[in-house]
Amino acid sequence: MEFNNLTVEIEKPIAIVTVNRPKVLNALNLETVGELGAAFSMLDADPDVRAIIMTGSGEKAFVAGADITEFRGKAAPEMIPFAKKGHDVARTMESMGKPIIAAVNGYALGGGCEMAMACDMRFASENAKFGQPEILLGLIPGMGGTQRLARLVGLGIARELVFGGEQITAQRAYEVGLVNRVFPADKLMEEAKAFALKLAARPSHALKMAKLAMNYGYDQSLDNGLMLETHCFAQCWSHPDLEEGVGAFIEKRKADFHKD
Ligand code: COA
Repeated sequence: MEFNNLTVEIEKPIAIVTVNRPKVLNALNLETVGELGAAFSMLDADPDVRAIIMTGSGEKAFVAGADITEFRGKAAPEMIPFAKKGHDVARTMESMGKPIIAAVNGYALGGGCEMAMACDMRFASENAKFGQPEILLGLIPGMGGTQRLARLVGLGIARELVFGGEQITAQRAYEVGLVNRVFPADKLMEEAKAFALKLAARPSHALKMAKLAMNYGYDQSLDNGLMLETHCFAQCWSHPDLEEGVGAFIEKRKADFHKD
């Protein structure tokens, strides 16, 4: 598949999706949002890929937001499909069975912060900056930021960021739970790849069941979430990885997953 604004590198068993518009700090125009959706769907269907890293090209930005130049002269109804396209991509990322790590190598603002939040976890370089600065443009986040940020950091901090529009450092993002881990810039990709490889070595069917139970259960009542967990848990018995993992434990040997 050819992309104009992304690179997709497959280094079996992981893949790296890089937003590649460095002249505009990897800002997401509509075409790029569509390409992200296509890239993640493609990787979800690729049996050679078991974990994915999303990052931005260059040393300055992960993604500096939606491409502001596409906003001018639009009417309100035109922006509904724009927001929905962003939501669809984020939902593709959250609902696919493979884990996605955001390697945030600089500015993750607006849509950049929103795409990072749609990843399963965020690793950041020490120079990364996070924020939802849309309010400074007279608008609000439209790719999930008003919803996902509060789910990750709590409503109070989320209001502070969305209402105030200020950027926060990687360290602050770590303190409030937006970021999982912070690394020196020159170590970020190495660390992200090492963790992606660790995830890729896990039994992929069980990892998929864990991701779906957590991503779909989170917004449910506890009862509904537990019901979902019950069925995802039971589904693990439908895959040979379980017999292999349990057998390896009992026989005191290393499990050999991914034979299917
Ligand atoms: N959309 C379109 N273009 C963008 C962009 C965006 N979200 N973010 C940066 N760019 C462009 C700049 O216009 C500039 O283009 P130019 O070289 O043709 O002038 C180029 O990327 C470099 O950005 P610049 O502003 O010169 O870099 P900086 O280091 O001074 O500042 C930022 C970096 C990220 C603080 C600043 O670019 C910025 O505030 N960007 C917008 C962030 C934002 O509001 N995002 C949410 C959008 S809804």
